[in-house]
Amino acid sequence: MKIFRTKSIEQSIRDTEEPEHQLRKALGPLDLIVFGVGVTIGTGIFVTTGKAAADYAGPAIVISFLLAGLACGLAALCYAEFASSVPVSGSAYTFSYATLGEFIAWVIGWDLILEFMVGASVVSVGWSSYFGELLKGLGIHLPAVIAGGPGAVMNLPAALIALLLTAVVTVGIRTSSIVNLVITCIKVVVVLFFIGLGIFFVKPANWVPFIPPAIPAAITKPFWDTTVLQMLGSRPMEYGWPGVVSGASLVFFAYIGFDIVATTAEETRNPQKNMPIGIFGSLALCTVLYIAVSLVMTGIVPYTQLATSENTAAMALAFSAIGQSWAAVLVSIGAICGMTAVIMILMLGQSRVFFAMSRDNLLPRWFSQVHPRFKTPYRINIIVGIVVAFTAAFTPVSALEEMTNIGTLTAFILVSIGVIVLRRTRPNLRRAFRTPLVPWIPILAVLICFYLMLGLPLLTWVRFLVWLAIGVVLYFVYGQQHSRLAKEGSEEGGLKHVAVSEK
Ligand code: ALA
Repeated sequence: MKIFRTKSIEQSIRDTEEPEHQLRKALGPLDLIVFGVGVTIGTGIFVTTGKAAADYAGPAIVISFLLAGLACGLAALCYAEFASSVPVSGSAYTFSYATLGEFIAWVIGWDLILEFMVGASVVSVGWSSYFGELLKGLGIHLPAVIAGGPGAVMNLPAALIALLLTAVVTVGIRTSSIVNLVITCIKVVVVLFFIGLGIFFVKPANWVPFIPPAIPAAITKPFWDTTVLQMLGSRPMEYGWPGVVSGASLVFFAYIGFDIVATTAEETRNPQKNMPIGIFGSLALCTVLYIAVSLVMTGIVPYTQLATSENTAAMALAFSAIGQSWAAVLVSIGAICGMTAVIMILMLGQSRVFFAMSRDNLLPRWFSQVHPRFKTPYRINIIVGIVVAFTAAFTPVSALEEMTNIGTLTAFILVSIGVIVLRRTRPNLRRAFRTPLVPWIPILAVLICFYLMLGLPLLTWVRFLVWLAIGVVLYFVYGQQHSRLAKEGSEEGGLKHVAVSEK
């Protein structure tokens, strides 16, 4: 079956050595951790935490963070094995091409657009609202029509930040790392500041009850907004354990990013050693910070007061509620910095996946040309930037956060399955990092990720399936016909070569 043809790992690595498609190998372990933290800490912790605590989990949002962190930790074990044995640009897309076949690889590549491009648009809009708030604090009011709020025709600041960051990533990965280092430091300091100051205002009474008892969901809530998990119950409920799971499905957004470290494998020195360090280092750091922030946040004010309209930052809100406005301003500045880094790296991740797909001719090869001086896939960078800016400017993106989550969870599931498949099809492949307890860890990762997907609303599922259907049509109309693998012959030839190289 043509759609199940796989691209051998050796072939993927050889492709990276073609001069006109070569990326600069500039990243070390610290760069990777900064990269991971840079893209991970953002809208999820600054905004979503409040919403998830108020609407779903209450103080038990801490458990939600643990649950989402567990799913990510298990998936990270699988990503680390892959990224250390297939150090090629493209992340889950490349991994699945080597294991699950071209069709699934295409679906993943298409699915990753939700994670990267839609994610970048969501964060750009969040950035813009914080930016607007900060300007208001300085007495500057943007004309409502371009500010992206209710009644606006566009969100100009969101579009502008996306375009500005496109320029940064186009100029080169090295430049991007330095910019990222500075802003990542600022936001980590601000998160630590929130924890350090906030801890003095915690009232343990706010943590009681820790898991608010389940109550019947509001009748007014549209059917589409009911999560699959709630529907499986006899009657849709809010809070309680289903609320904790829904909270986890939402705050999962906060963790998205550690996997993006894997997209830079091809630009990393000694990826076999440095990839696992980058992935686990950034995930561990973020998990600890998230648990601390959510404990402090729900301890400072009753969780019901953390319900934010879309333009309000939960962390700033918590400080304002206890009369610490100066601290709220400081946190807002950190949030703006934090989100800047997130947008930038999400776009960078997207361009790397497109790069890999174009190099395989599943997308037109014209895209993957590397700039002679900057050594970046500049055509893709520019196109991605324009699409992100356009989406952020003209689309109401709040619901798309859930789309990003469902897309990413699907990618995690497929990567976990890929680890099991690759162990069977290529038992002797050199793996610098081996996922422990295969197949149990990958199976557990699949189950927990799927469980989190069930915590997302029905409408998100419908949108996701429509999105996938569009991708499938595109594959059969373009990708399958042009696939480089189809032209150059696939696995059989590759396997002979493999058999020799593994001896
Ligand atoms: N994890 C990233 C954020 O929270 C996507 O903004």
